[in-house]
Amino acid sequence: MATTLITGGTVVNATGTGDADVLIDGETIVAVLAPGSTLLGHDLARSVDTVVDATGKYVIPGGIDAHTHMEMPFGGTFASDTFETGTRAAAIGGTTSIVDFVVQYPEQNILEQYHAWHEKAAGNCAIDYGFHQILSDVQDSSLTAMDELITEGVTSFKLFMAYKGVFLSDDGQILRAFQKGADNGAMMMMHAENGAIIDVLVQQALEAGKTTPYYHGISRPWQAEEEATHRAIMIADLTGAPLYVVHVSAKQAVEQIAAARDRGLNVFGETCPQYLYLSLEDQLGAVSEEWGDFEGAKWVCSTPLRSKHEGHQHHMWQSLRTNDIQMVSTDHCPFCMKDQKDMGIGNFAKIPNGIGSVEHRMDLMYQGFVSGQITLPRWVELTSTTPARMFGMYGKKGVIQPGADGDVVVYDPNGHTSIGVGKTHHMNMDYSAWEGFEIDGHVDTVVSRGKVVVDGGSYLGSKGDGRYIKRGLSQYLV
Ligand code: URP
Ligand code: ZN
Ligand code: ZN
Repeated sequence: MATTLITGGTVVNATGTGDADVLIDGETIVAVLAPGSTLLGHDLARSVDTVVDATGKYVIPGGIDAHTHMEMPFGGTFASDTFETGTRAAAIGGTTSIVDFVVQYPEQNILEQYHAWHEKAAGNCAIDYGFHQILSDVQDSSLTAMDELITEGVTSFKLFMAYKGVFLSDDGQILRAFQKGADNGAMMMMHAENGAIIDVLVQQALEAGKTTPYYHGISRPWQAEEEATHRAIMIADLTGAPLYVVHVSAKQAVEQIAAARDRGLNVFGETCPQYLYLSLEDQLGAVSEEWGDFEGAKWVCSTPLRSKHEGHQHHMWQSLRTNDIQMVSTDHCPFCMKDQKDMGIGNFAKIPNGIGSVEHRMDLMYQGFVSGQITLPRWVELTSTTPARMFGMYGKKGVIQPGADGDVVVYDPNGHTSIGVGKTHHMNMDYSAWEGFEIDGHVDTVVSRGKVVVDGGSYLGSKGDGRYIKRGLSQYLV
């Protein structure tokens, strides 16, 4: 078994920081040592196979992106990253695990879908991967299958309050699924937007000739998000199921989650970098030579970007500090402009919903530390430790300690990352939603279960390095 020593760096865990060397034997961290330690009189740096010099750099647990959609069938097309391209981009950006969503459309059998997703991912992933299961129609067989999926390591289930005829479950169906979650301990995840309201507003906007991408956001107002978040919380309260609200963008939805937590409910919230950094006005103002006022389609996602005049972004950063929101995932759901997003020219409702960010999440959230919004340990907690705990992986993932998987990132605070104009990224997209963002830091080295897969920013891994993560129940539940 190969041994790796990461030496001279500052180890950052969610609990704090300290100078230490990290020794990995095979796939596992075996020691976190005082800098320059010897082991039984042996100079460690001379005895190991690989030495990674982390002097002046941060040594953090590999990022965990708990919300991705690789090659997801959606909006009449497929998300443009495959498990191969998307996980490679993730690795380059310092993420060593993802949790992706198995999709069930109405009348499909969830166990068949689960096996189909294994076939897509197996042998193709650059990093470790787990699955959540989407439930669209809540069939009797799906409820039974939830128990079986838990034994397979799929311990979280996403439902939708929007997208009628595609994903939407009505309140009765949601109630039944939540009752099952209360019974078997599964984490119930919710896309919380009031679909009926949105569908009418979309229709009215189109009839009024308001067809550009900006109106996607206008027809999905914060009231629709707040109302649905409140309703999901009420169903969780009624049933006793734990609830994890995905891609929260409205400050009013955050307030609902905070109030539920104050009442002692097992309610959690996730936001995404786009809701921290981008606004509806950025989208409105986006015009390009190539796409004209369709340029804004690059940022069409649901929940949508929110207006900067309403204070959502400021409130969201605050909620990350106060732990009203506990996690930052990407909701990575990339589509190219050409032949994908452009299906919605003349009708914003036909633009496939989603933004690709899996490569940039660690950098974008590090910039939150640089700008004084969060501390270094909180950066690690939001992007690695809490995702591990929330979704039953902690101990192996999300921490640098003996016994954990050798998933380690060496991050250079003196480096720089330009998310440049043109294709400077590795995601399979013909644009980046983050073009022009400058990051005061850089992912230098990425070790995934003991293998150096990125060094000096260059990718050294291969497809198939990643392994399925059989997850346990959430470690936040008693
Ligand atoms: O716009 C989004 N969020 N696309 C992915 C599907 C979802 O709802 O998470
Ligand atoms: Zn969603
Ligand atoms: Zn999503």
